[in-house]
Amino acid sequence: MIKTIQSLPKVELHLHIEGSFEPELMFEIGKRNGIKLPYNSIEDIRKAYQFSNLQDFLDIYYTGCNVLQKEQDFYDLTYAYFQKAKENNVLHTEIFFDPQTHTDRGIAFETVVLGITKAMADAEKKLNISSHLIMSFLRHLSEEAAIEILKMAEPFKDKFIAIGLDSSENGNPPKKFQKVYAMAGEQLYKRVAHAGEEGPAQYIWDSLSMLNIDRLDHGNRAMEDKALLNELKARKIGLTLCPLSNLKLKVVKDLKDHPIKTMLDLGLKVTVNSDDPAYFGGYMNDNFTSISEALNLSKEDLYNLSKNAIEVSWAGSAQKRDFMVKLDKWMED
Ligand code: ADE
Ligand code: ZN
Repeated sequence: MIKTIQSLPKVELHLHIEGSFEPELMFEIGKRNGIKLPYNSIEDIRKAYQFSNLQDFLDIYYTGCNVLQKEQDFYDLTYAYFQKAKENNVLHTEIFFDPQTHTDRGIAFETVVLGITKAMADAEKKLNISSHLIMSFLRHLSEEAAIEILKMAEPFKDKFIAIGLDSSENGNPPKKFQKVYAMAGEQLYKRVAHAGEEGPAQYIWDSLSMLNIDRLDHGNRAMEDKALLNELKARKIGLTLCPLSNLKLKVVKDLKDHPIKTMLDLGLKVTVNSDDPAYFGGYMNDNFTSISEALNLSKEDLYNLSKNAIEVSWAGSAQKRDFMVKLDKWMED
């Protein structure tokens, strides 16, 4: 099965570039920038990765980002992810970044965006992986702060395809960001949002009706609401589920309890993703392997998961056809 998963052509739609920051690279960049981390060794960092909820994780994730200062740092972080993506047979990826995590530390928006997008262009040329960038707002901050970022992004508009919403979900409902989502819609950005990871099913309803999302990040708790499952299915909304993230952040107690197979059987457009792979124990192959072992997924299930990801991605139509040819070939082998 592991060999079958390795060769499965994959599309990744839920990946925070800051969450792909491996401790080795974190130390290296910290050293060259003269910034000390609150850890003495790489083992120390790994030991700190014991999360019992989303907030515990986010505190460590934001700390790690402090060493990122220069365009080259963002380039190195991003290119390292693409090398992993290549090893995992990822053909196309849609990447989140959190501008506020950096601009709030005094790093210029341009530094962040140019570092990331130069690595994306090089990955397309050298590794043959296409990608899009999603600008994600931190929901624990105000809507005014998100609007400020949207304005800051205007000169770089062609670099992004969508806006997103992440960070602490509980207590920061979709309603809080209605205005900035409407503004982004007027600028023709696509819209996604994290919802139903820790927050209630109502946050998913509200992301659909108030934020007009094109795709849903996580969405696990839709399982609690049959009408919502029907709505997601009828509207063919893509769900970017993240099995190892859910396990590590205790969204599920055991991967055997993960809803992805039930959702797939119900006809929802569910996909497998790594979220923050450096923190949660693995990239795409690890996520596919763990979930397929836990839920006894068939080859056809794996095919459908990858097919869903191709369909709900924003790759061009010719590109999607090319991915489907590769996927069909994999299925026949
Ligand atoms: N930021 C990075 N990963 C996240 C997640 N899984 N949920 C919310 N915010 C995040
Ligand atoms: Zn996420």
